[in-house]
Amino acid sequence: MDLKSQINLEKLPRHIAVIMDGNGRWAKQHGKPRVFGHRNGVKSVRETTEAAAELGVEYLTLYAFSTENWNRPQFEINALMTLLVETLRKEVETLNENNIRLQAIGDLTKLPKKTYKALMEGIKATSQNTRMTLVLALNYSARWEILNAVKELAQKIDNKQLKQAEINEKTFEHALSTHGIPDPELLIRTSGETRISNFLLWQIAYAELYFTPIFWPEFRKNNLYDAIIDFQQRERRFGKTSEQLA
Ligand code: FPP
Repeated sequence: MDLKSQINLEKLPRHIAVIMDGNGRWAKQHGKPRVFGHRNGVKSVRETTEAAAELGVEYLTLYAFSTENWNRPQFEINALMTLLVETLRKEVETLNENNIRLQAIGDLTKLPKKTYKALMEGIKATSQNTRMTLVLALNYSARWEILNAVKELAQKIDNKQLKQAEINEKTFEHALSTHGIPDPELLIRTSGETRISNFLLWQIAYAELYFTPIFWPEFRKNNLYDAIIDFQQRERRFGKTSEQLA
């Protein structure tokens, strides 16, 4: 049966976050260099973005480069950054045609100049779009983000712009790079790894986690539908009992 038609559009997750993993292993399986995996991963980015927007998902966040990824061989880092610039330039038009807004989270100023520039251009060119927001996590790590928020709040206290008693979930969230974006309700990780790897640690407090053995370059629309169907079959209780939800 057609998977898409099994999705209840009234109960879509508003925000889906994805840890795109397994590019390197997929390439190895095909006897190709790791970069071949990243290149093919772009196809999956395109398909996933299209599928999410078609369904009516409001936010899609993709973990494209972690703070820890700087530890990879320089050649691979360069290839990934070049691929990002290429893809951003090429896809801005498609994003506009599909009314998709681009945003980014992470320590963006530390990205190579070219990547930063292409990213800012993409964000600016799509800023008026309203159908879905595609958030790229670049040079992102949740611990960096949380520490950054703590520093921002401490600074405000030092400057007497904030009182300690005013620190709460709302003021804290405001200092995170995701402020204004609802928490992800569904987090998908590909490639069979069942870790969170420093991704959106604060924001996934109540997210449903979905792990699939599929390597990212093979992830297609139907795989996203599978994840959403699985999500919709779960009972989200937020600490309440089943009876209270009924
Ligand atoms: C993880 O696979 C993938 C990455 C670290 C990079 C993801 C980047 C892309 C899919 C391309 C560019 C993205 C956009 C948004 C245009 P891995 O290399 O860790 O694979 P492995 O675990 O098998 O080694």
